[in-house]
Amino acid sequence: MKLYCLLVIALLMLLSGLLYAQKFEGLALTPPMGWNSWNTFGCDVNEGLIREMADAMVSSGMMDVGYRYIIIDDCWHGIRDSLGFIHPDSQRFPSGMKALADYIHIRGLKLGIYSCAGEKTCAGRPGSRDHEYQDARTYAQWGVDYLKYDWCNNTGLNSVVAYTTMRDALFAAGRPVVFSICEWGDTKAWEWGKDVGHLWRTTGDITDCYDCEVNHGTWSSWGIMKIVEMRKDIRQYAGPDHWNDPDMLEVGKSMSQSEDRAHFSLWCMMAAPLIAGNDLRNMKKETTGILTNVEMIAIDQDLLGIQGFRYDAKDDLEVWVKPLKDGEWAVCFLNRSTIPREMIFDWSKNVITDPVSRWALDPGITVYSIRNLWKKKEIGTTKSIFQAVIPVHDVVVLRLRKNVD
Ligand code: GLA
Repeated sequence: MKLYCLLVIALLMLLSGLLYAQKFEGLALTPPMGWNSWNTFGCDVNEGLIREMADAMVSSGMMDVGYRYIIIDDCWHGIRDSLGFIHPDSQRFPSGMKALADYIHIRGLKLGIYSCAGEKTCAGRPGSRDHEYQDARTYAQWGVDYLKYDWCNNTGLNSVVAYTTMRDALFAAGRPVVFSICEWGDTKAWEWGKDVGHLWRTTGDITDCYDCEVNHGTWSSWGIMKIVEMRKDIRQYAGPDHWNDPDMLEVGKSMSQSEDRAHFSLWCMMAAPLIAGNDLRNMKKETTGILTNVEMIAIDQDLLGIQGFRYDAKDDLEVWVKPLKDGEWAVCFLNRSTIPREMIFDWSKNVITDPVSRWALDPGITVYSIRNLWKKKEIGTTKSIFQAVIPVHDVVVLRLRKNVD
């Protein structure tokens, strides 16, 4: 009888362990979209700025095309009190996080916040180490919907254990939260992150240049093409609810319009989270045009959730492809060179099979109609050879649909 009781108790413990040890499923069936404070404002965050950004997300039309999360990155923190509870900086967030969450929620948006697995964040604010369950409960009380969880000051930590602990803490707190793993690819989160978080950073920090490395001494930040090159072989790990995250967008900062367009297009081709990082309050209309191109966003948000891949590269001209639902395809021609280049692409000579998903594009057999997604117009079918001059660092992105005529 005693043994029987012990067995029942062990079974109950196992079951409750299973119930309380998982991520919230289904919160990111397509890559998350939003805005994050870090790329433009760094540590200079406050509640007025965040409220204005929420307003701008609505008035710019970004909310209408799918952007949802307003994410406060590092430096919102004040003290951790004598009982261990974390508080926002009382000078910068005098109304408190709950009031800010309410402001954001009333507008139909969601609030994201930032913490770190180490004792301190990357900017030296209190991290969540040894306070995971307490912090997760606090975030739930505030109404937080998204947590970006960084990896600074990680001495003595195992990333799988540290991120799983926070995942379980969030789940136990009971409020659905998108969990964004930010260990920069140092411990290959793509190999273990699927059951832990909804997205994981694949590289170190992005910076707003097309193809540079900025050396900060002990670490570097990376331009767009450097990030693209760094993790070429991990697309098979991405899919609905678990995305590779090549970092936040630098659209609308210092790059040319062509470079911004190429950056945004590649992120859409890679099914990357679309987290804007510019000042939404005073965007040029060209920037708004890029960030709110619904047909490009549809490529990123396609329900198959297949990360696209580079099919061909010759003389700085690249061809990227992405299988889409209903047998459709996105094709992105990229000019990486510093002079305008002519792209000539004979569809009939290209049978493309995706080695991961096995979807096949065979314009020799099936005729597809073609739409140019930046020009927003139909440009014929795959019966004709595609030909166009692509400006420096720019793209042409096409959507191919089976021709039913
Ligand atoms: C790390 C992250 C960045 C940002 C900063 C904040 O560098 O990778 O995205 O969150 O920390 O300090």
